[in-house]
Amino acid sequence: MRKPLIAGNWKMNKTASQAEELAGALKDKLKNENKVDIIICPPFTSLEAACKVVKGSNIGLGAQNIYWEEEGAYTGEISAPMIKEIGCQSVIIGHSERRQFFGETNETVNRKVKAALKFDLTPLVCVGERLEEKEAGRTFSVVESHIKEGLTGLKKEEILKIVVAYEPVWAIGTGKTATPQEANEVHSHIRRLLTGLYGEEVASRVRILYGGSVKPDNISGLMSETDIDGALVGGASLQADSFVGIVQGAG
Ligand code: PGA
Repeated sequence: MRKPLIAGNWKMNKTASQAEELAGALKDKLKNENKVDIIICPPFTSLEAACKVVKGSNIGLGAQNIYWEEEGAYTGEISAPMIKEIGCQSVIIGHSERRQFFGETNETVNRKVKAALKFDLTPLVCVGERLEEKEAGRTFSVVESHIKEGLTGLKKEEILKIVVAYEPVWAIGTGKTATPQEANEVHSHIRRLLTGLYGEEVASRVRILYGGSVKPDNISGLMSETDIDGALVGGASLQADSFVGIVQGAG
């Protein structure tokens, strides 16, 4: 049985004081929630403030990116041990916005996933096709290269520690959601790929989240599909009520 997971990707939103306020509202409204795992991913500068609020609660903390080296002359970068010490248990890796605007590739995703695992952080590894790739009928092959190259060299026991997020780029922040059936076809394909690479026992335990315009009113349809185990939520994670609605709809 895979426990549902809802993760909020705050992107470049919320100063430290705003993060404290939102985290506080979520902690209060979600305090009795135990059917769903919950993670919030504020920007780096708000992690500490959010951590103080959610520490010891049922809300986990994640960062949105890391660099793969542990320390050194890498101006502007943040490492896995830095976010670990500040209280993170997880980190988003390979988000399409990083691939699109910041030169992230499958190779850098792979290095970052390994760095996260080394520090016992759960990598939330994002995969997904762009609109032109979808229109060219390349969804499965793009997702396949993201999975195979992004996870290359990982051992079975490491695969059990990751979460995959399928985020069709054309559905992110656009209000266009993949239909539950459409998303589930890709999720099932991802699980088949993982089965081929690591065996059924491992593949059946990996959580695969959907991301792209998830809202309180479309989460239950998505969750009713066989291979959708939760969601990575952007815009709707920025307000307590909509994020709470999604968490409740996933349980
Ligand atoms: P969205 O973003 O929910 O605003 O579409 C999802 C994401 O980018 O993780």
